[in-house]
Amino acid sequence: MLIKNAHHALLTEQSVTPESVYRDRRRLLKGLGFGAAALALPAHAGVLDLLSPKAPENHGKPLNASKATLPADLQLTPEGKVISYNNYYEFGTDKSDPAANAHTLKLEPWTLAIEGEVEKPQTIDVWQLIHSAALEERIYRFRCVEAWSMVIPWIGIGLGTLLNAAMPTSRAKYVAFESLYDPEQMPDAGASGIALPYVEGLRIDEAMHPLALLAVGLYGKTLPAQNGAPIRLVLPWKYGFKSIKSIVRIRLLETMPPTTWNLLAPQEYGFFANVNPAVDHPRWSQASERFIGEGGVFDAKRQATLPFNGYADQVANLYQGMDLRQWY
Ligand code: MTE
Repeated sequence: MLIKNAHHALLTEQSVTPESVYRDRRRLLKGLGFGAAALALPAHAGVLDLLSPKAPENHGKPLNASKATLPADLQLTPEGKVISYNNYYEFGTDKSDPAANAHTLKLEPWTLAIEGEVEKPQTIDVWQLIHSAALEERIYRFRCVEAWSMVIPWIGIGLGTLLNAAMPTSRAKYVAFESLYDPEQMPDAGASGIALPYVEGLRIDEAMHPLALLAVGLYGKTLPAQNGAPIRLVLPWKYGFKSIKSIVRIRLLETMPPTTWNLLAPQEYGFFANVNPAVDHPRWSQASERFIGEGGVFDAKRQATLPFNGYADQVANLYQGMDLRQWY
């Protein structure tokens, strides 16, 4: 499919808002009265609170989870950046839109269906799961196809644990994921340029891999709406668009499911979408990335991109026999 409008493609580095404009927008929001709301906030209030005075009730609730150790070679992306620089097209296409707009997402109640090729279809009460499951913290690199990256302390539950509870049949070869789509809660979604609901997919062996995480929190607390509350996928060896947000349905299938970005531009966004510095995106290089750490978001320092985003030892065997020079 031809891309007719810049908003129809993930934005390139060249087209993202310059930081000066972004800062002006923050100043404007304060000028419109958010400054007063910010004054009433507790000292720990983050960027979300400043941009979105009607933060969802479950935002910021501490979670019980086993603690991860930060690997010596990684530096965490500050929480304020993780929750204010987002891609969530249902709430707008600028990086700052989701933090400003996603407070309209109604987080409770939330159910997640697991169905299709399973012996035991499930309808999971996600908040009950969050409060009763053995949650783990996992510190992962996160690499967006737009060539920026972060390091994020997620909290979640292994995807394979949930899938196994539904007992996949021998016909289950793929797993399809679907995000919530509700135009009433997402009034600007129609302008996003992508077909909704947002859908993603994995091969069953990828879905069962121990690195595949269903995240329900970050930085020790429940997920902010803009990061995909209350439950989203995190696949650290794949480009970020595979990490689908605010999931309502998981379906196990015999055949490969369609995926949102691949439907829109198959020559740019593959089904597998494994991070691969040797294969450039048709419109920009994937050899390096802007690491978003301390300091500016748009002038962040560049670093080399690693095959499978640094997780080759764990996942490369899933792709033996596939030609990784191709755009997957
Ligand atoms: N899921 C939905 N439902 N809608 C989206 O627009 N964007 C994807 C992915 N999941 C997206 C989504 C993309 S392109 C990226 S890079 C990551 O979410 C961004 O996750 P983050 O905002 O938590 O960094």
